[in-house]
Order: sequence, then structure tokens, then C-alpha cells
Amino acid sequence: MTGPWTPSTWRERRAEQQPPWPDDVAVERALKQIASFPPLVFAGEARNLTASLGQVAAGRAFLLQAGDCAESFETFSAVNIREKLRVILQMAVILTYSLGVPVVKVGRIAGQFAKPRSSPTERVGDEEIASFRGHIVNDPAPTAAARVPDPDRLVQAYHQAASTLNLLRAFSKGGFADLSRVHAWTQEFVATSREGQRYEQLATEIERALRFMRACGIEIESTFQLHEVDMYTSHEALILGWEEALTRQDSLTDDWYDCSAHLLWIGERTRQRDGAHVEFLRGVGNPLGCKLGPTASADEVLDLCEALNPDRVPGRLTLISRMGADHVEDRLRPLLRAVARAEHPVAWACDPMHGNTFTAANGRKTRHFDDICAEIGGFVRAHRAEGSWPGGVHVELTGEEVTECLGGAEEVLDVNLDERYETVCDPRLNARQSIDLAFRVAELMRA
Ligand code: PEP
Ligand code: CO
Repeated sequence: MTGPWTPSTWRERRAEQQPPWPDDVAVERALKQIASFPPLVFAGEARNLTASLGQVAAGRAFLLQAGDCAESFETFSAVNIREKLRVILQMAVILTYSLGVPVVKVGRIAGQFAKPRSSPTERVGDEEIASFRGHIVNDPAPTAAARVPDPDRLVQAYHQAASTLNLLRAFSKGGFADLSRVHAWTQEFVATSREGQRYEQLATEIERALRFMRACGIEIESTFQLHEVDMYTSHEALILGWEEALTRQDSLTDDWYDCSAHLLWIGERTRQRDGAHVEFLRGVGNPLGCKLGPTASADEVLDLCEALNPDRVPGRLTLISRMGADHVEDRLRPLLRAVARAEHPVAWACDPMHGNTFTAANGRKTRHFDDICAEIGGFVRAHRAEGSWPGGVHVELTGEEVTECLGGAEEVLDVNLDERYETVCDPRLNARQSIDLAFRVAELMRA
């Protein structure tokens, strides 16, 4: 995986999971238009995130990466974005207070539109139709016509990402994320629950601590860290033409950055060492993630580390294991050992979602809260045993009161799944389950 790199050298490699676009000319026209649009993020921001993730790699910070499995063109609204940010801020406060280290906040947001699929088609009645690949490609309605990839969606995805990011920037710097509002972040339906009451207690303690600091003469008002947060964006870099169109040369360093998001990750299905996704991402300066499923071998992982981070820059690479609760401890340990022996300074995060999906009796794809906690528990134990830092979690959630994942302190049962099952792809934790999870992560980390 060496040789000269340009934003288009990936085109000489095999690219898995690319949509079967019916009209290549229309795709190139859309991509050309996107290439003429302004970048969504700036290189300096991506470098700041690398530095923060370097702290995670060194065991001095914790990563919280969270958001939708797939963002939707249909549920695109200010309320939806605000509620997602709100629950991420609440989780971050719980983790910061409980772990006593900075929490690096990265959303699966403002660009998380494309989905890899296990099968290119699915059966609907007695028809075989193309699979849904995310709103950036086609429409989820179960008809052959809806599933035809539409290049106009590439442009629409850019615009939705831009306005989502605009609002995120406003919320995170313009007062919404102010720590003095730690109580105000609780939604009514959360406040009345057990998790909500636990959160309220913690919020009260934080308020007391702020009063204490003020009483000691510390200038609370002028300490910007208490009033603003850094909220970074990320998505799976799947549709490589779209990523290429947003890849720009930084005027300060002359390095290339994929300016579609701060962090880009490679999915479990596209991490082939000689594949197009690894080729594309090795050349951009952004911090990168790579998913590792239960079959990942130590040799594969070392090859990926060499390809994606040959200079061993701390924070450049985050390895995100998603092994399943039953396998994580056994399968992760040899990988941790190999990476440590090769002295690769990676950040390790646990995706406890994608290895624990199953189909409920009523046909709904779901996950159980207990399996999610069990995988995080195994992840932490594997790190403790190998002497490495369990650096973070990567979860799928929403701020809404959906019923997509089972379990939690206010238990969602099988029979509840149909009540509010709204995801366009994988099942997400609702706001209550997310807050519950943050407390559980804190407990597992301290155990
Ligand atoms: C995802 O994160 O939504 C996803 C598809 O994950 P993975 O590549 O780990 O299966
Ligand atoms: Co998913």
C-alpha cells in the first residue's frame, strides 16, 4: 500500500459497496457540482481532533462517538438535531464527572447517510429488489422503483450535512451547551424516569461544584470551557466519489483533507487492505476510524495500522471493535497485544451495537441493552488484562423516545417494539437508554 497518492488513486482499486448507479454521466455531473461547493469542515479542526484523540490513545481522555445509524432526509429538523446533541451532552457530562478525564465528543452526524449492506438485494413478497443503501443513494420504500440509485441525492446529502453542521456549531458555541444549563438538558420524558432522576442528582452536584468554584474566586463567566463544547462530526466514508469531491488541499500545510467531516471511518465490510477505501483514506490528513469485527486477525490489524498510520501519529487511528458480547474478550486480547507490541499509538473504542443485532419474534431488527453493556464490560476487561486503555464507546442513539432497542432501566419489551420503531437502518438507543448506558459505562470503567 505505497506509491503515489492522489484523491483519485482509489479508482484503480476494487471498491466494495458502491451503488449500482444507472447513469454514470449524471453521477459525475453531481460530483463535479459538489467539488465546486465549499468544504464542510476545515483542516485545522481535523488536526485538533487528532490531538484530542492522541490524548485518548495515551489514556488521558475518553471518546464518545454517537448518533444515528443512518441520518434520514425525512426526519431532518432542528428539533431532531437538538435532541440528539442534548443526549450526547448529557452522556458526556456523566462520563466526564464519573471518569475524571476529558470526553472527546464526536457525532455520527452531518454526513452519516450511506449504508453498507450484507446483501445487494432483498426479497419483498415474490419480488427481488435492490437493498436500501442510505438516503444519499436511494429511497427505503420497498419497491423496485424507489430503490433505483438517484445521483441528485448526492447533492441533497451535501446540503443537509451543511445545514446540520451549521446548527451544531451554533448550539455548541452559542449557549445551548453551557454547563450552567446542565439541568435544562433533561427532557420531560427523561426527567420522570429512574435514569433521569439519577442524572438530575449528578446535575445538582455539578451545580454545587460550580458554586463552590465561584465562591473560591474562580471566574466562571470568563472560562469558555464551561460555556462551549467542541462537537466533532464523523461518518463512514463509503461512497468514495462523494468523499473525493469534498477532498481539498489545505493551504497552510499543502496536505489533503477530506473536508466532508472531521473523522472518517472504514466499515467492517470495506476494510480490505488492498481495497479502494483503505487506499483513499490513507492519503487524507483527517483522524480515521476502522471497524474490527470478530474475524479480524492480528496480521490484518497490523497491516491496517501500517497502511493508515505509517508514521505512528497518536490519535490518527482509532480502532473500533464490534465483536459481539460473547466474543469480545477472547478475540480482542490478541489484537491489543499485537498492536501494543508493534508500538502503534491507536485509540481503542468499543462499538457494542453491531455485533449484538438479532431479529425479534415480530420480525424487527433489534438489540438488547444488556448485551450492549455486556460487550462494553468484556471490552474493558480485555484492556485491563492487557494493560491498555479502554478509550471510548461508539453507539447508535437518538434523542427521541423511540422503541427500537430492548431493555434499559425503564424496560422496552418485545411487545413495545412496534410502538415507535422509526430508524431507517439499525435500531438506536432512545434518550433514556442512552443516559442509562453512560452511567453503566462509568461503572464498568471503575470496576
Ligand atoms: C455502522 O456503523 O452502522 C456499520 C454498518 O457498522 P459496521 O461496519 O461495523 O458493520
Ligand atoms: Co448501524
